[in-house]
Amino acid sequence: MDQEADLLARARRYSFGGRMDGGGGVAGPVFVSGSGSEVEDVNGKRYLDFNAGQMCAALGHNHPTVTAAIKRACDTLIHAHSSHFNIEEIRLAERLAGVMPGGLDKSLFLQSGSEANEAAVAIARRYTGGYEVASPHVSFHGLSDTARSLTFAGWRDGQGALPAGNYALIAPYCYRCPLRQSFPACNYACLDASFELLDAQSTGRPAAVLTEPLFSAGGVIEPPPGWLRRLHELCRARGMLLILDEEQTGLGKLGTMFACETEGVTPDLITVAKHFGGGVGISAVTTTAEIEETVVARGFTVTHSHSNDPLACAAGNASLEVIENENVPARAAAIGTCFKGHLAALAQRWEQIGDVRGRGILIGIELVEDRHSRRPAHALGRAVHRYCFERGLIFSLRRNGSVLRFVPPVSTSEAQLDRAAALLDAAFAAALSTRPQ
Ligand SMILES: Cc1ncc(COP(=O)(O)O)c(C=O)c1O
Repeated sequence: MDQEADLLARARRYSFGGRMDGGGGVAGPVFVSGSGSEVEDVNGKRYLDFNAGQMCAALGHNHPTVTAAIKRACDTLIHAHSSHFNIEEIRLAERLAGVMPGGLDKSLFLQSGSEANEAAVAIARRYTGGYEVASPHVSFHGLSDTARSLTFAGWRDGQGALPAGNYALIAPYCYRCPLRQSFPACNYACLDASFELLDAQSTGRPAAVLTEPLFSAGGVIEPPPGWLRRLHELCRARGMLLILDEEQTGLGKLGTMFACETEGVTPDLITVAKHFGGGVGISAVTTTAEIEETVVARGFTVTHSHSNDPLACAAGNASLEVIENENVPARAAAIGTCFKGHLAALAQRWEQIGDVRGRGILIGIELVEDRHSRRPAHALGRAVHRYCFERGLIFSLRRNGSVLRFVPPVSTSEAQLDRAAALLDAAFAAALSTRPQ
C-alpha cells in the first residue's frame, strides 16, 4: 500500500469525519508542507492554495516572521496562567489598538473565531442588559452554540434547539434581492423590513447586531455602499451595539486595514481571527474602554485555558508586524485588482459567470445557467472545482456550488494568478463541453 492509501486507511479508522467542506468521506490529498501560496501533499504534488488553508494563511504559509516568533516563544514561554498578564499578550493588545479604528482600544484574546464572536455577544448582553441579537441571513459566525445560532448561511440542520433570542435580518444580497428590489432605488428596503420584523418579535430587550461587513461563507456577498452606516443608525436608535465580525475581512485582507473603514463606520466591537495568528489559532475581541470598564465592573469574565498564551500572542504580534511592515493592505488590493481583471476577462468568454465580486484577496464568482434567468449553476460550480482541484488549484465552493470563493494569500505572484486564471478557463471549457445541449 502506498503512503497516502495507508494514511487514509488509518484516518478512516481513527479520525472523526464531518468536515465542513469534506463531503462526508475520507479522501486525499493528505498535506505535509507549505510555503507562501503553495502546499504539498504526501505524494509530492504541489497545489496553489487559493483557500489560504482555512483562510488563516492569508499572509502566506509559514511566513518566516511568524515561524521565527513561534521558535522564540518555544525557547521562552509557550503557555502561561490566563489570569496573569504575560509580556507577549500586553504587547499584542497595544499593537492591536494601534491598527483598530479610533476608540477601540481594549482587547481580550481567545483561540477561535467562534469564541471571539461568543464573547462579543456576551459583552453586548452584559453592557446593554438585553439578550436579543440579530444577524443577516447569509452570515457565518462559527459553529459553537451562540455563534451557530447567529449563522444563517447553513450548518444548522439537525442541531436541535439553539439558544433563544437570536434573529435573522434580510441580507443585502443585491444580485438576488429577496425583496426583488434594486439598489439604489430600494433605499435599503431590506434593512427597513428587517427592523420592522425585529421590533415586532422583540420582547423589549435588544442587545446587538452581529454582522460581517462582507459576507464570506454566505457567498462573497458585498453590501451596497451606505448599508453599514444605515445599519449602525438603526442599531443606535434601539440601543443595540454593533459588533463587526472582521475575522474574514479585517487586518488588510480587503485592501484596507478593516472593511468598515471604507464605510466610515466605527462599530462598538470588532472581532478578528483567521490570519491574525499567521496560521496559529488566536482571536480577539476589541472594544472601547467605556464598554470594557462597564462590563468588567458588572462581573463579566471569559477565559479559556489557552486564552492569552504567549506562543499564540507572539504569533499575533508577528502577523501584525508583517501586516504593517510589508504593507499587506496594498498588496491585497493589488492582487485583487489583478485577479478580478482575469475573472472579468473570463466573464467575457463564459456566459455562466453571472457576477464577479469581492475586494482584495476575498473574491467570488457566482455561476448561473444564463444571465437572464440567473438560475444558480450548482453542478457547473462543482465540475469546475473538481477539474481545478485535480490539477492543483485549491479554492472553495459556497452556496451549494454556485459560488466559487478565492482567497489567494498575499504571497501570490502575478504568474501564479495567471496560472489560476488559465486553469479556470480550461475548467469552464471542459465542464461546458461535456454538458447536454
Ligand atoms: C466571518 C467568520 N466568522 C467566524 C468564523 C469562525 O471562526 P472559527 O472557525 O475560528 O471558529 C469564521 C470561519 O470561517 C468566519 O468566516
